[in-house]
Amino acid sequence: MADITSEIKKRRTFAIISHPDAGKTTLTEKFLLYGGAINLAGSVKGKATSRHAVSDWMEIEKERGISVTSSVLQFNYDGYCINILDTPGHQDFSEDTYRTLMAADSAVMVIDASKGVEAQTRKLFKVCVMRHIPIFTFINKMDRDANDTFELLDDIEKELGIATCPINWPIGSGKEFKGVYERGSRKVTVFRDTEKGTKEGLAEEIAVDSPELKAFAGEEHYGQLMDEIELLDGASAEFDQELVDKGELSPVFFGSALTNFGVEIFLKHFLHMTTPPLPRMADIGEIDPIKEDFSAFVFKIQANMNKAHRDRIAFMRICSGRFDAGMEVYHVQGDKKQRLSQPQQMMAQERHVVDEAYAGDIIGVFDPGIYSIGDTICMPGKKFRYEGIPTFAPEHFARVRQVDTMKRKQFVKGITQIAQEGAIQIFQEYNTGLEEIIVGVVGVLQFEVLKYRLENEYNVEIRLENLPYEHIRWIENEDFDLNSLVGTSDMKKVKDMKGNPLLIWVNSWSIGMTLDRNPGLKLAEFGRQ
Ligand code: G4P
Repeated sequence: MADITSEIKKRRTFAIISHPDAGKTTLTEKFLLYGGAINLAGSVKGKATSRHAVSDWMEIEKERGISVTSSVLQFNYDGYCINILDTPGHQDFSEDTYRTLMAADSAVMVIDASKGVEAQTRKLFKVCVMRHIPIFTFINKMDRDANDTFELLDDIEKELGIATCPINWPIGSGKEFKGVYERGSRKVTVFRDTEKGTKEGLAEEIAVDSPELKAFAGEEHYGQLMDEIELLDGASAEFDQELVDKGELSPVFFGSALTNFGVEIFLKHFLHMTTPPLPRMADIGEIDPIKEDFSAFVFKIQANMNKAHRDRIAFMRICSGRFDAGMEVYHVQGDKKQRLSQPQQMMAQERHVVDEAYAGDIIGVFDPGIYSIGDTICMPGKKFRYEGIPTFAPEHFARVRQVDTMKRKQFVKGITQIAQEGAIQIFQEYNTGLEEIIVGVVGVLQFEVLKYRLENEYNVEIRLENLPYEHIRWIENEDFDLNSLVGTSDMKKVKDMKGNPLLIWVNSWSIGMTLDRNPGLKLAEFGRQ
């Protein structure tokens, strides 16, 4: 039997956040290549090739007719056991993308060097900040013409409000990309575009003050590098592990995932700087990942879109101890002892049944409809609850109407159940009944999912009428008199399923105006846990 302490200490569980196309999939693939989980990091899902990136799970699942989108990739590298959590993006960007970050111990932010901070990164970053988890930056696509390096860092600091500390520094970009200078070792790793990153590249290093570097980089780049190093050493924040741990300072790395340059350098530093599973807050105080027996919480529930498999899968993040398949556990919110049914894990492309798993790992179990997001599972005899998962602000709203009003009961049942799974949020206007429901979603694909599921699972046809609202805030004041609220013309007052009051607006600036007009009003971006 493996030693629990050393198994947990070697775990690193993180999410990769980025705006679509910044290179998250490519980087993940290259990580797997180093972990030996795949032999060939194939060119990424592209139009040119029909091969799918290994982390492009949803499509793979669809093709194979398997019921779930997996949540994690696990691989071993350099003595570490690494769990990469998938943060669905693109079309399937949804609340799940945010929830996944609740299960991560740190985040890697991938930024396109020619674009800087983009919208989706900004949204995901907010969740990381709320959790105070360490954030590491990988500035990608240096093999293409990039923005000025100082400007890129400035952009991160201004847009995201986090200090940056470059661990390495690029020499040129695009056709002129020569490599990266590592500030700690004062060595330059030379960039040579070979084999399009299908092989683990052999890194060639040259000391920064060697004449060889001047010859390789050319006078101009060499001179610029010297100037930039001087500027950097004088002006940039010093590396401070404590600030990194608190999520206040982001170590920054440069590279090119596609050509597999700078990826291993990043991985090595990152694994060293990020933490193993840390204690997590529960209602009885902090739960130690090593000292405490098995415990976990549900962060995502995936319902099946396929009629032939009507199951759901609950994804759990193990927070402490060891999980053994077949052992009896206690579901706190359901107040029931149970065995977890067919616990599964993803190892590269393969899903397999788990025999044992440790704090830091993610397991998916078949859910007959008993779990809710945020539920705690622990050992029988214990009764603590982990802190809940907040509700994230939807950005798209639509009014839902039933086509056949005779099916009101099924409609209410279906829409309530789907909302309980966390796929959508439902709101009601004041003074209307359940036949007038407003649905809010984080990603527009969820509207289609809702329509499809209501028709297929509940036999209810609906019509969706898009509403122009895009901004929502929860009213935090318990005693606020809604009738006296002075709003803006584009504002609507609604309540959620629990009866909590909220405001929705079309324009973002109206939020500030509403605050100005109602002194004492407190608004929150995340729903109560
Ligand atoms: P994502 O998961 O963040 O959405 O990004 P993904 O890895 O799929 O990469 C998006 C596109 O960017 C891909 O092009 C990929 O090859 C390219 N890319 C990723 N990293 C680098 C890099 O370091 N340098 C360069 N030059 N390109 C990179 P694609 O598959 O051809 O798709 P598309 O361009 O047709 O969308």
